[in-house]
Amino acid sequence: MRLLVTGGAGFIGSNFIRYILNARPEVAVINLDKLTYAGNLENLTGLEENPRYTFVHGDIGDRRLVSEIFSRGVDAVINFAAESHVDRSIMDATPFIETNIRGTQVLLDVTTEWWREHTAGGPPATPAGPMLERSSIRGAPTDPPAGVTASTTGDNFDTAPVSGGGNSTAGAAGGASPGQAGNGKSRFNGDSGSWEHGSTISTKDLPREDRGQPGTAPAVAFIQISTDEVYGSLGPEGRFTEESPLNPSSPYSASKAAADLLALAYHRTHGLPVAVTRCSNNYGPYQFPEKLIPLMITNALENRPLPVYGDGLNVRDWLHVEDHCRALELVLYRGRAGEIYNIGGHGERTNLAVVRTILHLLDKPAGLIRFVKDRPGHDRRYAIDPSKITRELGWQPRHTFERGLAATVEWYVKNRPWWERIKSGAYREYYERMYGGR
Ligand code: NAD
Ligand code: DAU
Repeated sequence: MRLLVTGGAGFIGSNFIRYILNARPEVAVINLDKLTYAGNLENLTGLEENPRYTFVHGDIGDRRLVSEIFSRGVDAVINFAAESHVDRSIMDATPFIETNIRGTQVLLDVTTEWWREHTAGGPPATPAGPMLERSSIRGAPTDPPAGVTASTTGDNFDTAPVSGGGNSTAGAAGGASPGQAGNGKSRFNGDSGSWEHGSTISTKDLPREDRGQPGTAPAVAFIQISTDEVYGSLGPEGRFTEESPLNPSSPYSASKAAADLLALAYHRTHGLPVAVTRCSNNYGPYQFPEKLIPLMITNALENRPLPVYGDGLNVRDWLHVEDHCRALELVLYRGRAGEIYNIGGHGERTNLAVVRTILHLLDKPAGLIRFVKDRPGHDRRYAIDPSKITRELGWQPRHTFERGLAATVEWYVKNRPWWERIKSGAYREYYERMYGGR
């Protein structure tokens, strides 16, 4: 199965790529990532030579590029790519609208075109999963464009301008530098719409024997990775179900809600087998240190103040990223088209409780805590009711928050160079703007 994973150089995407390549030998991953400030190829170190992994540097909103990737064979799409930080969306919503809404629309359009082409007699009137266990799926690698050499090794192909995007830490890691993603042997020229000659594009042969076998083919063609934030804020009681009304508070969550509705509309209108997943706050290795848990761990390790918004009593429902990845695997193979699945780890905690536990685990003083001005529109409480995915797909979280948090703290202690490179780079500027006058 050829899986197009977008945003795979970010926190959850990179964890998912590692997870799925390990768990599913029939899966090959094409990772399309723009390498924004949050995209870091270091998160995928070790996969460069994996014959089942290909990196493409580019934007999900680039229709020509996405079509080009599809022309090489894709069996399903998992869309992680997004601007993901609420605080940034408060400072400037533009990239959120661009990537989270318009980018998702482009992906949905191209996936729909492909779906129409590869479904005999056009899209089915009443889609129902598993949809893709049929011989019409394009999975076989296509020939490379004329003048381009085929390769069977784990290649990357770079489509972004040489000066474009990228996280400075990627280069610093001895991995790829911005604009030179991985070994960057080939380049898609967006202006001419063609591949530049003399370069090498992977046309890796995928394990074909499993394709189309029950249990190894995708049940849905497109998974939209969404968030519990689309439901807005809860009072002290109750949990979000898939039927809870959408009531987003921030430009980020509003853009995610819009993308969800688009994805579900493509299912109803075009018959595209789409599933939407809405998870709670993830934590674990490789999370960018602008989000609560890695920010607090790394600040504590540097003996810097820990900025807690408002009274610190806002509640988040923590989900270990590996539990999230397992849930997504289940949705990919057994999810029902047109459905929404809530994913949550039964891990409700106040921010203050999380921060205190981190300080305790690191043996640092509570005096490092600083209460700062609250986030505008700050949602008070999130809590997910995951009973649908448990009932239908048998998913249960395996990590308790206590053990998961302790392991995460340990990961940041052991991987200091990873986050130090991030914190010493462009992130610093943002940090000053965010917390400078607070
Ligand atoms: P992240 O910010 O760590 O990573 C986002 C990735 O997307 C980066 O690698 C970035 O380079 C890439 N990207 C951004 N714009 C792109 C574009 N136009 N084209 C291609 N790539 C682009 O985010 P994350 O925390 O890993 O979140 C992944 C997804 O999960 C997002 O859709 C987010 O909304 C959702 N989500 C996250 C959480 C969480 O707790 N982190 C919880 C619920 C839902
Ligand atoms: O609920 C899912 C969402 O979780 C995802 O959709 C988002 O992509 C992800 O960023 C996350 O959003 P939050 O706003 O909940 O996460 P963040 O880590 O920014 O903040 C978690 C809580 O901690 C929130 O109540 C705000 C608070 N906070 C955050 C930061 C960065 C602080 O008190 N201080 C801080 O410095």
